[in-house]
Amino acid sequence: MARRKLIAGNWKMNGHLDHLRELHGIEKAAKTHPQVDVAICPPATLIAPAVARVPGLAIGAQDCHAADKGAHTGCLSAPMLKEVGAHHVIVGHSERRADQGETDSDVKAKAEAAHRHGLTAIVCVGETEEERDAGQAEAVVTGQVSASLPSDATADWLVVAYEPVWAIGTGRVPTLDDVATMHAAIRATLSDIIGDEAPGVRILYGGSMNGDNAAELLAVDNVDGGLVGGASLSADKFVPIIEAGAALA
Ligand code: 13P
Repeated sequence: MARRKLIAGNWKMNGHLDHLRELHGIEKAAKTHPQVDVAICPPATLIAPAVARVPGLAIGAQDCHAADKGAHTGCLSAPMLKEVGAHHVIVGHSERRADQGETDSDVKAKAEAAHRHGLTAIVCVGETEEERDAGQAEAVVTGQVSASLPSDATADWLVVAYEPVWAIGTGRVPTLDDVATMHAAIRATLSDIIGDEAPGVRILYGGSMNGDNAAELLAVDNVDGGLVGGASLSADKFVPIIEAGAALA
């Protein structure tokens, strides 16, 4: 099945208002290559100003609370993000699983909240280096997929991102064979959970993707885009990844 590639940037806790200037070059590339989807998830403080500045670019959030409102100091709900113009929300990033102790069931509840309010949920999964060394990578990742995804998820609002923890921000990437094996395993698990919807769900690869390795990673079977950290912070580094995706479409 043909799936549109999605090239999504995750700025993590980086960027102030002046950094939004980078979005112009990214928006321009997105318009030049309409055969791929492009999104940027800046820090929450920059969502509204980013939407105002580049209305043609999909802007997303990096997390949401599972509840719509309530006594949760410091948290943001899916309807709040939707109100200020977010299209997507990343949930279950490994940094949040590690730093905030988020569990698979937390992630599932967040994905459900995203869907309730019309946001696309980008659900992240990925093994640690210890788990890979112990030969458990596939079991860990497919276990996360099974436990983190709502069983009523459909391809129009769910995206999965496979991000091996040891590849994030390290300059290390798995072999193309390992990426293919994991993405195929995720696809098979999706079939078990959501049946007929599984072939339409995009599975992104994330972890040290850059302009030099994007073309080969994005060409792997079942790699339907990228979730890019460091290389999404500047248009100069991110646009070549968009171009690599567009060349494959
Ligand atoms: P890097 O591209 O910086 O390795 O980060 C990947 C990531 O965690 C995106 O969510």
